[in-house]
Amino acid sequence: MSDRTFHILLLPGDGVGPEVTAEARALLEAVGPAVGARFVFNEGLIGGAAIDAYGTPLRDEEIDAALASDAVFLGAVGGPAWDNLRGEARPESGLLRLRKALGLFANLRPVRVFDALVDASPLKPQIARGADLLVVRELTGGLYFGRPSERRTDEAGRRAIDTLPYTDHEIERIVDLAFRLARQRRRKVTSIDKANVLATSQLWREVATEVGERYPDVTLEHMLVDAGSMRLIARPRDFDVLVTENLFGDILSDEAGVLAGSLGMLPSASLHGEPPTRPGTVAPMFGLYEPVHGSAPDIAGQGLANPLGAILSVSMMLRFSFGLADAADAIEAAVEDALAAGYRTRDIGGTATTAELGAQVRERALARLG
Ligand code: NAI
Ligand code: MG
Repeated sequence: MSDRTFHILLLPGDGVGPEVTAEARALLEAVGPAVGARFVFNEGLIGGAAIDAYGTPLRDEEIDAALASDAVFLGAVGGPAWDNLRGEARPESGLLRLRKALGLFANLRPVRVFDALVDASPLKPQIARGADLLVVRELTGGLYFGRPSERRTDEAGRRAIDTLPYTDHEIERIVDLAFRLARQRRRKVTSIDKANVLATSQLWREVATEVGERYPDVTLEHMLVDAGSMRLIARPRDFDVLVTENLFGDILSDEAGVLAGSLGMLPSASLHGEPPTRPGTVAPMFGLYEPVHGSAPDIAGQGLANPLGAILSVSMMLRFSFGLADAADAIEAAVEDALAAGYRTRDIGGTATTAELGAQVRERALARLG
């Protein structure tokens, strides 16, 4: 049987971006033969690196290459070298433009407290231990895009307005995805809203309940965002999949991220398009995969960056864009093995270099796929 080929656009970006994405790339190239896949990387520039080379943070060529690929893998953009630039000329405007061009509607941020790292969490071990949740955030609607959004000054003084619109289709699409994801996990969805105050949240709750009826094997729970934000740090183990609108998701995903103990541990995926027609499946969906952290200029170029956020991001790519769930499971187990064996970068209390931790995960993933 010939290997299946997957084309990945790799945009390493700035700072530690190239260091952490190199480890994730090497991992995919190593496990490919063991899982019957060939991963073909096409590398491009984004952010400060693209500004230095081409005078713009993202060229149309890279957008076209992204659209022609099976998935996009990004490091991080930005850094002090480009801090004097303004607006569209800044590195992060390249990333915003890429995200927009790809039509991403769902942001997935899993947070897991690995047993070996329970002491790195800011929460007490007895509360943090075993926490393993997935925040699913709607990306296209809500306050960030609602119109009118403006400021005005008149006789009465200065005023400003933002608008929070949602359609039933937008809500249905993201909640349905959350249920599909829950079926691959512990079969629980917590839908977060502010239905005691907001009309959009009342619609959200209504649609989430309708979607839930299609998934009788998954438990649906509704929670108000204020109660949910407390619950997240008081009882993080209560959660499996959380689904919520854009602004609540922005805040809650950062709050949840703190549980893991280091930004360097956190992966993310942003998905495009309708899920496959077979209910309950996710792959293949097109996605942009990136660690949550930034370019970490304070440690760039020193081999200190934690590559696990990037590595866990490509594991999500295998799961959601390529349908290679077994390979993704092996990589996640290998991360756990490497941490349990004591390999840690400085941010999680160890002395391993980026390359050492990357190599440990690679070896263990290969052993598991053996
Ligand atoms: P940052 O995430 O780059 O760093 C925050 C802190 O976390 C730093 O102390 C850093 O050393 C540490 N850290 C981050 N990633 C790490 C890793 N993999 N291993 C170990 N430690 C890690 O955020 P900061 O400092 O606010 O921003 C730095 C630059 O990155 C800025 O130019 C910012 O605009 C950009 N940025 C880019 C993002 C992206 O590309 N998605 C996201 C956030 C910031
Ligand atoms: Mg944020």
